[in-house]
Amino acid sequence: MSSYEQTPVIELRDTSKSFLGVQAVSHLSMAVLPGQVFCLLGENGAGKSTVIKMLTGVERPTTGEILVDGEVTEFTSPRHARERGIATVYQEVGTLPLMSVARNFILAAEPTKGWGPFRRLDLDKASAIAIAGLRELGINRITDGSQLVGTMSGGERQALAIARALHFGARLLVLDEPTAALGVRESASVLKLIHTVRSRGIAVVLITHNAYHAHSVGDAFLILRRGEVLASFKKGEKSVGEVIELMAGGEELRSLLTEAETSLASI
Ligand SMILES: Nc1ncnc2c1ncn2[C@@H]1O[C@H](COP(=O)(O)OP(=O)(O)OP(=O)(O)O)[C@@H](O)[C@H]1O
Ligand SMILES: [Mg+2]
Repeated sequence: MSSYEQTPVIELRDTSKSFLGVQAVSHLSMAVLPGQVFCLLGENGAGKSTVIKMLTGVERPTTGEILVDGEVTEFTSPRHARERGIATVYQEVGTLPLMSVARNFILAAEPTKGWGPFRRLDLDKASAIAIAGLRELGINRITDGSQLVGTMSGGERQALAIARALHFGARLLVLDEPTAALGVRESASVLKLIHTVRSRGIAVVLITHNAYHAHSVGDAFLILRRGEVLASFKKGEKSVGEVIELMAGGEELRSLLTEAETSLASI
């Protein structure tokens, strides 16, 4: 590596993961740089969630190494990964609609006793920090920490979860299908959010089935198929059409379609 290159926030080196004989991921290497949006793509069962689980300390690789800031690291738990700045942004904020914005912020602090400023569950403080965090992400509509999460839009809830992760020191955010449940406008606001986060030097690993979303925010792309790298490329190297075709299986899909047409013709 030349001296002007950045050290990846996280890197997988020749990692494999198998579950009782099922090879979920084979010999995968990937590196995510600070301020980079890394899109992880692939059809169902391709191995995306398994990669995410290895990156976030939920599963350990069967073989291979994980490096954080260039150092070989064995995550012992998701909390361990979190302490190193690797945060998964879950959409669980949406399942607690009757919780206030401030309390939702505190919720993130609870697993670690005595962590940060919320030792005494100081709601006023949490409220101020949450609102400031949202504002930094471009969400200005929320001005009262006692507002219920259920009254926020899907995009605003994502922003709340991201603000929370950033406040607790995240340097890499893992977003698993953040736009899956959202409409066009809300998806656009989440994509904008990803732009904002990246401009702050935070790295993002984005999983999505939507090639347009990936294409619009991604800097680096990795398409998995059956646990192996089908394609790996950088922003600008492929068109949306090419990404769609690769995500759908490319050659394989074409031959399946031809096969189907041939058998239909023979009926
Ligand atoms: N805990 C497990 N035990 C056994 N097999 C597993 C386990 N987790 C994943 N697998 C297998 O590993 C392969 C990859 O699964 P994974 O969940 O990583 O795919 P994915 O790309 O996230 O798919 P999807 O888009 O459907 O979420 C699949 O064949 C799956 O059945
Ligand atoms: Mg998955």
